[in-house]
Amino acid sequence: MRNGISLVAIAFAAGCGATAPAPSPSPVSSARGARADRFVDSVLALLSLDEKVGQLTMAPAEGMQTGPRMPNGGAAQVRAGLIGSFIGVTGAAETHALQRVAVEESPHHIPLLFSFDVIHGYRTIFPVPIAEAASFDPALAERSARIAAREATADGIAWTFAPMVDIARDPRWGRIVEGAGEDPYLGAAMAAARVRGFQGEKLSDPESMLATAKHFAGYGASEGGRDYAKAELSERTLWDVYLPPYRAAVGAGAGAVMPSFSAVAGSPPHASAWLLRDVLHGRLGFRGVIVSDWAAIEELIPHGVAATRGEAARLAMRAGVDVDMADGVYPDSLAPLVRNGTIAPALVDDAVRRVLRAKYDLGLFADPYRAATPERAARVILSDANRAAARAAGRESIVLLKNDAHTLPLSRSLRSIAVIGALAGDGRGAIGSWAARGRPEEAVTLLEGLRRANSGTDVRFAKGARPEGSDTSEIANAVKLASDAQAVVLVLGEDAERTGEAESRQRLELPAAQLALAQRVTRAARGKPLVVVLMNGRPLAIPWVADSVPAIVEAWYLGTEHGDAVADVLFGAYDPGGKMPVTVPRATGEVPLYYAHTNTGRPFKAEDKYTSRYNDGPSTPLFPFGFGLSYTTFSVSDLRPSRDRLRAGDSLGVTVSVANTGDRDGDEVVQLYVRDDVASVAQPVRRLVGFRRVSLHPGERQPVSFTLGPEDLAFHDLHMRRVVEPGTFTLYAGSSSDATLAAHFTVVGDTLVLAPATPRMQ
Ligand code: BGC
Repeated sequence: MRNGISLVAIAFAAGCGATAPAPSPSPVSSARGARADRFVDSVLALLSLDEKVGQLTMAPAEGMQTGPRMPNGGAAQVRAGLIGSFIGVTGAAETHALQRVAVEESPHHIPLLFSFDVIHGYRTIFPVPIAEAASFDPALAERSARIAAREATADGIAWTFAPMVDIARDPRWGRIVEGAGEDPYLGAAMAAARVRGFQGEKLSDPESMLATAKHFAGYGASEGGRDYAKAELSERTLWDVYLPPYRAAVGAGAGAVMPSFSAVAGSPPHASAWLLRDVLHGRLGFRGVIVSDWAAIEELIPHGVAATRGEAARLAMRAGVDVDMADGVYPDSLAPLVRNGTIAPALVDDAVRRVLRAKYDLGLFADPYRAATPERAARVILSDANRAAARAAGRESIVLLKNDAHTLPLSRSLRSIAVIGALAGDGRGAIGSWAARGRPEEAVTLLEGLRRANSGTDVRFAKGARPEGSDTSEIANAVKLASDAQAVVLVLGEDAERTGEAESRQRLELPAAQLALAQRVTRAARGKPLVVVLMNGRPLAIPWVADSVPAIVEAWYLGTEHGDAVADVLFGAYDPGGKMPVTVPRATGEVPLYYAHTNTGRPFKAEDKYTSRYNDGPSTPLFPFGFGLSYTTFSVSDLRPSRDRLRAGDSLGVTVSVANTGDRDGDEVVQLYVRDDVASVAQPVRRLVGFRRVSLHPGERQPVSFTLGPEDLAFHDLHMRRVVEPGTFTLYAGSSSDATLAAHFTVVGDTLVLAPATPRMQ
């Protein structure tokens, strides 16, 4: 206890609460940083080797009582100073009880860190991350993350394993649902916003928690979209496509990074000093904690780069993995390896410093409980305000994919609506793939949302078919319901449990039973309003539906307020304005399919065989990246670069004008793309460099301006330098990635080198 008091006192004296180190710290923040470092060193000096390893050990909640790696029980190990953090222990009372043991009974009274996967909400669940990316509104993602942090911290959590910032261009990969989609620019904007939301202005604020950018790096490139498979990608693609969201997350101050399960070019990131030390620390300037993924240190053995757990520990420590999540490799092996001279003590000390610094920055030495109490939890968690925010986020994340003949919005005077599809009544589906402490029974299902929205309408429900499986026995009922009703809402998609980790798919097409349901219900609904609502965590290849159904709404999994948000859109209380953050393929065989591809020497031409295409189906997307309709219409015009010639280091102003040309209020996402026409390395046919979501009344026009800096025009050249090369560039602006409004400018003078050659891949 004596030490505990003195540590707390030191923390107070040091003005506890320094924020994460900024790239160029002000004199005040560097003085604060130096004080924090002195404090951390003073704590480190107290620790035995075993206690140091304890700080690097994250124990899983499940193992606390019975797990083989904690035979004495979690509390006993905490008392002995052998655990630094927990994953999965939640609740103000539960965390308080363990924290009390740590700060009152452990040798040096060092507080524990409680971590949890708070991915898209804690108890109030927000849209899944790919859905929020469809809002093209980073401020929205920041707000959701902030609310998630407020709820989770009230329940004792100080560390989340989010945001997931992996670019994903292969929707067979189930984890595409956890990220912001296929585009590095959108991905970077969302990554930074989410980090800001989780961490707030100051980590020491008891409503802030440490964010973790994951999974570093290239996880989304897992071969064949198969989870955990190796990623075979070039260094250039890694730097130009997969790393920008990490750069943004680190720039926003992310306190932690988690390496990926998937080997990059044969080297598992948990053993890659190149990736973690040279790239992440060295080039991206990351100074925070590197936490292993679940049991991923031990998995260096099946990867085939370590023969024993000891070797796995040595590789991970050498690579720079600070904290071992769940597999017990560090606690079993690190101390003996240091004692026998295999691992330098300084490596362990540095890792412990980073953990202690995170604890210090979070204010844990000042208030180990971070003011988490059951009363605070009861006040904050699932509050009306949080639910309202989730509903607003849900509405903004919806994408209107098709709306022939103004099928939508539905009339409020309909006497009856048939709602068909098992997902419509599924609370689990509503809250989506990684719902932390969210509860299906607290979610508004689509069916409930529609019923609540219109008391005068008789809303009838038939399951029709489950999203997976082949049972068609209930289709006849659904067809009957559709024939009898005045309008039909048909809900198609995939079970939320079929998205996320370890949920790779071979087929993005609808399974046979769902397709049969869609076909028969569409026939029965001929002549009446028919709307397909998609609930899914990845783009699905639905060519038949896209051709045959008059209206399609991409609703994803919108969280606790799913049903209300969808009902707001279907009945026109809210005019949808989201855009697809991923390209939708026509067939699984087209993937990976993304808008920012390179041209090839033989770009696709439908009428020319010897071009880059498939011979058994169209080679174009069903819906392009950035696409989404509205109940009103917009026009984007007057694309103007501020000048037509500039030097490589200059920035360029670009303005464009957007007008609401329809008769309803609505949102448009104005998008700006650039193409480097001729470069030393083939560049994408276009890539996103700016976007703005604007709300306009009918007839209203608004100028939108962007500033492009050298980073927006840069790429990695043949020597792996980050450069802006002279030459002509084409700008495109509009409401989707297939925008045709174009303008040109020229960069003159010499090549600008923004960064020297990257450290060579090893
Ligand atoms: C996932 C991580 C997650 C961790 C802890 C792993 O299986 O890959 O994203 O943070 O589990 O739950």
